[in-house]
Amino acid sequence: MATNSSFQLFSSSSDKPNLGLGFLDSSEPPLPPPPPSIEVLSSEVSSSVRCTVEPVNLDGFTLLKGRVSTKEVFGLPNSDLVPGKYEGGLKLWEGSLDLVKALRSEVQNGHLSLEGKRVLELGCGHGLPGIFACLEGAAVVHFQDFNAEVLRCLTIPNVNANLSEKSQPDPSGEVRFFAGDWGEIHQLLPHAHESEMNLNSSSEHGQATGYDVILMAETIYSIPAQRNLYRLIKKCMSHPHGVVFMAGKKHYFGVGGGTRQFLSMLEKDGAMTASLITEVADGSSNVRENLQYTQGGDIHRKH
Ligand SMILES: C[S@@+](CC[C@H](N)C(=O)[O-])C[C@H]1O[C@@H](n2cnc3c(N)ncnc32)[C@H](O)[C@@H]1O
Repeated sequence: MATNSSFQLFSSSSDKPNLGLGFLDSSEPPLPPPPPSIEVLSSEVSSSVRCTVEPVNLDGFTLLKGRVSTKEVFGLPNSDLVPGKYEGGLKLWEGSLDLVKALRSEVQNGHLSLEGKRVLELGCGHGLPGIFACLEGAAVVHFQDFNAEVLRCLTIPNVNANLSEKSQPDPSGEVRFFAGDWGEIHQLLPHAHESEMNLNSSSEHGQATGYDVILMAETIYSIPAQRNLYRLIKKCMSHPHGVVFMAGKKHYFGVGGGTRQFLSMLEKDGAMTASLITEVADGSSNVRENLQYTQGGDIHRKH
């Protein structure tokens, strides 16, 4: 059932923009404590919620997209998200499609190779960018979502459908799923560090661990959550060659976040360099951007 704290905050791939609602309204009750961080095994796929799949065309490249009922999983009809309870993972947002297209073009241009890489997709939902990494031969792909239900009911069936569709039921890479809040999930992620790395440091610390590539789409709408997200990235990025690919809207009206605001936080911190890969202004939402963050040298870009 929709409660008065559920929101349709911004446009998704299937919805018209609905902007300007009061996410940061001080009259809103404080967020509930986040759900505990857990690893969800692929065998824990939900047998009670039906997930149907349909093709999604990404400029001539096809992936499958699962569909489940938000009402069936969370009892929430017609809701983009409920802050602190359900964070929008059951919908497919435009940014994840943008991100797959951007990654594919980076691979095709010879700028990026995912083969053999350790990849983490944060805020995965359907997990299409992570699935693309699996298909490109990543050695490790770890998917994270706030909600274990999203992983059980949607992400795992969607990963399975896509990998078996491409005749790779058992890709040689390791695929694992983790649920929990960005403020805590580093404790469970196998390649995360306990504390934030000094990305400007030339020390050898952490060189053997960390994720080579971090992917995330439509994860930066909430300013309070962004701070935890950025700290998490610094705990997860391999040093010194880790790279983040991020897709998101320039501004999420009514909630305060957006790529520009995230960039200014990074700029103040000074640990990473950002570059714009593409800007998408297709009229289906406000302007979106695909960005890449690195710490100095970048082995993923072939010269
Ligand atoms: C708008 S959805 C985007 C889903 C997917 N990346 C896409 O583009 O279709 C936001 C995602 O970020 C995750 N998320 C949001 N806030 C979070 C938090 N505080 N901790 C962990 N995950 C969070 C949600 O679980 C969800 O998967």
